[in-house]
Amino acid sequence: MQNNTTNNFPNISFNEWDAELYESKHSFVSNLAVDLLELLNPQIGEKILDLGCGTGHLTYKITTRGAKVVGIDNAPTMIEEAHRCYPDIKFLVRDGVNIELKETFDAVFSNAALHWIKEPKKVIHNIWRVLKPGGRFVTEFGGKGNIETIISGIYEALDAAGYSSNKQLNPWYFPTVGEYATLLESEGFLLTFASLLERPTKLENGESGLRNWIKMFATCFFEGIPEKKQNIIIDDIENKLRPNLYKKGKWIADYKRIRIMAFKEVH
Ligand code: BEZ
Repeated sequence: MQNNTTNNFPNISFNEWDAELYESKHSFVSNLAVDLLELLNPQIGEKILDLGCGTGHLTYKITTRGAKVVGIDNAPTMIEEAHRCYPDIKFLVRDGVNIELKETFDAVFSNAALHWIKEPKKVIHNIWRVLKPGGRFVTEFGGKGNIETIISGIYEALDAAGYSSNKQLNPWYFPTVGEYATLLESEGFLLTFASLLERPTKLENGESGLRNWIKMFATCFFEGIPEKKQNIIIDDIENKLRPNLYKKGKWIADYKRIRIMAFKEVH
């Protein structure tokens, strides 16, 4: 799910997610998606692909409805953890841009993953390819304006520290509903549901919440910056964002979510 970058934080490097940190401090990512499963509405015996499955908790939830699910993620650490937690489910290291699966599916499901891939056309084409005729694509990910307060805090702190060029390392794709719908329709999909919703989200671990979030998800901005300096920049980000995002001992991330359901039309 993450792009290729180097950084100086101890646990995360090169296209690697720290599965342990993710599990201990960021499990809200899978908890928030439970009602997305209602939109997917998995049926007994269906074959479903979970694209960007992370540590596999939602993949497992889908299997409890009687569907046969394959989970894919481009981070080997996440897939290793998913295998460990759910040894009976098939998990594979695969990229959304290059899914490389011969089998086809009744549905493709994806939660909180597609904003990590800046080549949406390729992903959509791959999803089309692995869906059976009439199959559905159900997804939720960051949409236009997602974490814009956090991003402006990061940008301002990088500017102030003399690392303005690191702003170019922004790894995220947050489209409008219109942009994404157009891409899906160009591929041939029929959209039946599309929305953009605000989802202010409490980060875990109180005072350290934003710092942990940055160390898990935003390390790419710190490429080439010495570790001591990185920590000073994060202090500055916290100071800049505290008035807007820190409430009653908790950091609140300004998440905005695109939610889509689309069908592979058969003619
Ligand atoms: C999100 O779930 O919206 C998100 C998570 C980490 C980084 C960027 C966006």
